[in-house]
Amino acid sequence: MDAREMKIKAAEAALTHVESGMRLGIGTGSTAEEFVRLLAEKVAGGFKVEGVPTSERTARLCVELGVPLKSLDELPALDLTIDGADEVDGALRLIKGGGGALLREKIVAAASQRMIVIADESKLVDTLGAYALPIEVNPFGLVSTRMAIEKVAARLGLSGELSLRQSGDGEFTTDGGHHIIDASFGRIPDAEALSSELNSIPGVVEHGLFINMAALAIIAGPAGARTLQANR
Ligand code: A5P
Repeated sequence: MDAREMKIKAAEAALTHVESGMRLGIGTGSTAEEFVRLLAEKVAGGFKVEGVPTSERTARLCVELGVPLKSLDELPALDLTIDGADEVDGALRLIKGGGGALLREKIVAAASQRMIVIADESKLVDTLGAYALPIEVNPFGLVSTRMAIEKVAARLGLSGELSLRQSGDGEFTTDGGHHIIDASFGRIPDAEALSSELNSIPGVVEHGLFINMAALAIIAGPAGARTLQANR
C-alpha cells in the first residue's frame, strides 16, 4: 500500500463519522483532499452537509467537486472538523501547517465540537518536533519577532534553524496575508510550554502546535486504519 492509498483509507474511516446534515470543517493538505473527494461522491448521491473550508485551496477543490460551502461567519459553530497533520503523538498533540493553512485550521477546529485527524502512519511520532514547526508571523516587525522566538526557544532549551518559508517568487504568504517561520527544533519535549510562550509573542499570529484539540486520530498503515483516542 503506498502513501496515497493509506491517506484514502484514513479518509474513508473518517467519513464513517460524518452524518447527513452535519456542519463540517474541512481541512487542508493531501490527506484532507482525499477526504473531500470521498465526501463529494456521497454529496453527489444525496448526502447533505455544509462545509467550512480551512483554506482557499480546499475551497477551490470543494467548489470543483460540488461540496456545498459556507463561510465560518455563516456557520460559526461546527459539528466536526476533519483535517490532516504533519505529526501526531500518542496524546494526540499535533504539528500542523506544512501546507501553510494553520491559522484557519486552528480557528475552524476550535469552532468545532470535535476534531478528527487523519494521517498515514508516517506522521505518528513519539515526540513532536522532527517536522519543522510552522509559526505564522505578521510581516510587520519580522526581525524582532524572529528574535523573540529565538529567546523563547533558548529559554526552553530548544535550538535549531528558524527559516522564513519561501515560495517561487519570494516569501510564502498565507491566506491571511502573513508569513511562516519554520522552526527546526528536532525535538519538542514540552509542547505545552512552547505553545504558551509562542502565544505570548505579539508578532506571532499562531503556531502549528495543536494541543487538546483532536478527539480522535485515524492512522492508516498497510494493515488498514486504526483509531487513537484522546485521553481527556
Ligand atoms: C496544512 O496547513 C497542514 O496543516 C496539513 O494538514 C498538513 O500539512 C498535512 O498535510 P498532508 O496531508 O498533505 O500531509
